Amino acid sequence: MAAKKDLKGKAAKLGKAKPSAVPVQTVKTAKPSTKAAAKPAPSKSAPSRKASKKPAPVTSPAIESDVLPGAAGHQSAAAKGAATKGSAKASTKNAAKTPASKAAPANKPVKAKAADPLLTPAEAAGNPQDAVQSLLAGDITNPFRSGMRRSRAPEPATLVIFGATGDLSRRKLLPAVFGLWQDGLLGSAFNIVGVGRQEMTDEQFKDYAIEALNTSRETDTPQPGSLEKFRELLYYEFGDFAADEVYEKVKTQLDEAEDAHGGRKNALFYLSTPPSLFEPISNGLGRLGLQDQSEGWRRIIVEKPFGRDLASARHLNDTLHTVWNEPQVYRIDHYLGKETVQNLMAIRFGNAIFEPLWNRAYVDHIQITNAEDLGLEGRAGYYEEAGVVRDMLQNHLMQVVALTAMEPPAAFDADAIRDEKVKALRAIRRIPIERVSEVAVRGQYGPGTLDGEHVPGYREEPNVTPESGTPTYVAVKYEIDNWRWQGVPFFVRSGKRLPKKVTEIAVVFKRPPLGLFPGGLERNVLAFRIQPDEGVSLKFSSKTPGQENVLREVVMDFRYDAFGAQLESPYSRLLLDAMVGDATLFPREDEVDQAWQIVSGMLEAWDAASPQYVKPSDFPNYTAGSWGPDAADKLLGEGRRWRRL
Ligand code: BG6
Repeated sequence: MAAKKDLKGKAAKLGKAKPSAVPVQTVKTAKPSTKAAAKPAPSKSAPSRKASKKPAPVTSPAIESDVLPGAAGHQSAAAKGAATKGSAKASTKNAAKTPASKAAPANKPVKAKAADPLLTPAEAAGNPQDAVQSLLAGDITNPFRSGMRRSRAPEPATLVIFGATGDLSRRKLLPAVFGLWQDGLLGSAFNIVGVGRQEMTDEQFKDYAIEALNTSRETDTPQPGSLEKFRELLYYEFGDFAADEVYEKVKTQLDEAEDAHGGRKNALFYLSTPPSLFEPISNGLGRLGLQDQSEGWRRIIVEKPFGRDLASARHLNDTLHTVWNEPQVYRIDHYLGKETVQNLMAIRFGNAIFEPLWNRAYVDHIQITNAEDLGLEGRAGYYEEAGVVRDMLQNHLMQVVALTAMEPPAAFDADAIRDEKVKALRAIRRIPIERVSEVAVRGQYGPGTLDGEHVPGYREEPNVTPESGTPTYVAVKYEIDNWRWQGVPFFVRSGKRLPKKVTEIAVVFKRPPLGLFPGGLERNVLAFRIQPDEGVSLKFSSKTPGQENVLREVVMDFRYDAFGAQLESPYSRLLLDAMVGDATLFPREDEVDQAWQIVSGMLEAWDAASPQYVKPSDFPNYTAGSWGPDAADKLLGEGRRWRRL
């Protein structure tokens, strides 16, 4: 992906060495290349947009291909030249945006490169042995990037976004789609139909979308002219979601796209609306037969929150299934689109050394932390109803727990992986209402100081009721009743207005059985930093230099920036997955059901505001800028403490 607009800020952060109490030994990695992935220049021939309402065949800026544009064997010499030029341009552009720490040394001679900057010439020519030789000869600036290919091009399709003028669409979806399109990953023909209740013309929606792209921090740096071309892909329809008219207009759009889309009527419907509209929209699409796949695939993405509790989630699943088959339903959880969350599976199941230790024989406990420094960000209407359990725990964090706890799948495919996740979730001990106070702590922030600035308490946020009982913090201890994890607690915490933004999974190992050395009884920790400063670290004890046998903890650290690539937005990944029909990273019906079952006891106890639990009248019980309520520390039990992050 191209450099994001916030790269500078992020890189500056990365560049800032974190003061560390222990010596940190960093795994040596090759200098990252400054070169971004090949960015195809948008096609010269301006895609003619509908003079009439009919979508014209707007071609993707990249040549349709199953590897990144520019790979040898997939392009004409002219196209190759163009791609190389394009990438050189992108490279310069990105270099300007790339922090000095990331830039290749100016004096390093760069040898002739393959058209695809991710491949050595030998790799591009398909000779792996030569590829190794050329790597050894320094033929590619960053061997970590070798083999990073994008291999999936969806069929021509229309993306229909319900709630197209909403916040999510503006901040995340439109930038993600633009990035995919500009990278040439959306196939040869593609368009977007925005749908909303607000009256707007096509032109107004186009203006709106371009303005959104210009202001979102998530938008890839546009290549010259590409925003104008992207604009031509956009259409807008409006209406009452309870009536048929708006779905008829959507149907007409799909019919009109047919010619340009090679006779197919593929469509991805994205429900980016308040949850109360999920059912009316699904039913409306169903009434018009828009789920019918006889003339092209049809899929529906449903945003979170997926239900408010177990009963409403089941009802929503049942309602969706009156229209769609389960394989057509993509319940989105953007945490699964995060590169680092996926890497958990890759590291567990792509290496031999971790799995043998990943069980009750060696692991003392697991800690999963999701901390946000932000508060409500103007979302009181939604958050007052949701609270932290519905907003973060039931979905994002239960997914992370499932990926950490699951058994190796028999294959790397959607159902094999999701079967294992469901098995893990099923084994998590349910928390009956009367046990909630033993294993879970909730909190709400009061006023405090963050980054030297005073911030208001939750109840003082705009549009929050002054005696609100909505929790903004939760910590919970899960026990997993299966062979692998019996007796190994999983501690999970999540909160708003904590001191910093950080999400981490830490596998905390048992102490060595015998203390041979002074200071040598620390626990090893394997930590997956989901965000920010994405990476993996291993903490272990080492002898300090000198005559004495004194041990100290050291850290071996792998950082994602070694790959020299900016991590792409989870929405890009998930949108593309849905378009190619890969449901691996989308929770299945039974996963969502299990996750609701797991949090149900907590919700029932706390919603009932029973006096045996922290009462809303006890809120606020943590100060903004602190690590949450004191009671959360006690949850871990004797001899354990939350990691200081
Ligand atoms: C969203 C929640 O799903 O995830 C927000 O509704 C939260 O409240 C956000 O801030 C966190 O996502 P990320 O990717 O920034 O960790």
